[in-house]
Amino acid sequence: MDNFNFYSPTEFLFGRDRENECGAYIKKYGGKKVLLHYGGGSAIRSGLLDRVKSSLEREKIDYIELGNVQPNPRDTKVYEGIEICKKEKIDFILSVGGGSCIDSSKAIALGALYDGDFWDFYGTGKPVEAALPIGTVLTIAAAGSEGSGASVITKEEGMLKRDTCSDLLRPKFSILNPELTCTLPTYQTACGATDIIAHVFERYFTNTEEVETTDRLCEALLITMLKETPRVIAEPNNYQARANIMWAGTVAHNDIVGVGRSQDWNSHMIEHELSGLYDCAHGAGLAVVMPAWMEFVCDHNIMRFAQMAVRVFGCEMNFENPKMTAINGINAFRRFLHEIGMPINFEELGAKEEDIPKLVAKLGIQGETGGFQPLTAEDVTQILKIAVNAKVV
Ligand code: NZQ
Ligand code: ZN
Repeated sequence: MDNFNFYSPTEFLFGRDRENECGAYIKKYGGKKVLLHYGGGSAIRSGLLDRVKSSLEREKIDYIELGNVQPNPRDTKVYEGIEICKKEKIDFILSVGGGSCIDSSKAIALGALYDGDFWDFYGTGKPVEAALPIGTVLTIAAAGSEGSGASVITKEEGMLKRDTCSDLLRPKFSILNPELTCTLPTYQTACGATDIIAHVFERYFTNTEEVETTDRLCEALLITMLKETPRVIAEPNNYQARANIMWAGTVAHNDIVGVGRSQDWNSHMIEHELSGLYDCAHGAGLAVVMPAWMEFVCDHNIMRFAQMAVRVFGCEMNFENPKMTAINGINAFRRFLHEIGMPINFEELGAKEEDIPKLVAKLGIQGETGGFQPLTAEDVTQILKIAVNAKVV
């Protein structure tokens, strides 16, 4: 195991009706004038936004609303938010929604305290030096942004999807009420589940040896997701299944299962080009990319893929031919994605084979990426070609 620091300062408030406490928690973290940031309407339709506003009003907290964050959140909305924050002397941002809304809030939070263009921090590695505090009321278990320091924004000009990461962007508090996720369309529930699983796999495929504690934590999350996802799809109002998925989503991405080990993230890097170009759901893009990536890189460490197959998907270990075991595991993963209604190839996603050179060029790989198995631009082309015609076996 490698040396590590683990810093996850977010206070999580989990359970039914907890959104009614958001005013009190904003007060606790010093907020007096709030930007209330939300998405395209689900929080209005469900009545959640009204409950949040009542909570702020009970605590006599001033707020200004900024709604209509779209999935794969755009820079244009971020600029709008930054302007409001600067003009109105906002000192706290409350995000009511999913990963898109939270990521937009984080971008506004750092842009509000920066004299230049907030985009300077995206895709460049430039360290964030200051950000307004944010809190979240999560409505979809998926991106893990409620506990992460990451923010992913799409620049409309050229549809460039890029990220930044800083501990300064970790929310002060996040409210996780599983009941709020019951209104999700089945497709979005499944996209979220796929993203959660992918966040674990990005950490599971490591070159660090002797990491049994985090391996086993990863496997626990994966096995839980394989069990609970079909359960919520069959019973959308099943609180306990929703609760297990919601907490898995947070734990999968606040890095507690990734500490002390090298991680991959190449599937995410490739997927961001798909959701950048086609504006598809991030989880759907991952369902197409990740099994293809697995097929391409599995020879790098067959025994790790065989371990996944046996421990997570219950495949039988073939000691004569471990590669067969590994392939059985990858096939089981793709079958699972298909069964929960995810696209598994280009056609099902609405992607086009002729766009592969454009997708690869947008990645701008100089030499090789990092990760479990470093990839060249040609490797990414091969992975996308596997994804074009992928089938359930
Ligand atoms: O906008 P509204 O009307 O709320 O509708 C949303 C949206 O259409 C809807 N929705 C959310 N909660 C709902 C609901 N509909 C009914 N009932 C509810 N309770 O679901 C749709 C998707 O929402 P979105 O916020 O886009 O989903 P998600 O949480 O999957 O976020 C995806 C974004 O997060 C980024 C992705 O790239 C993508 O841009 N990621 C962020 C990460 C991070 N910050 O750490 C890591 C991830 O790997 C990911 O890249
Ligand atoms: Zn993700």
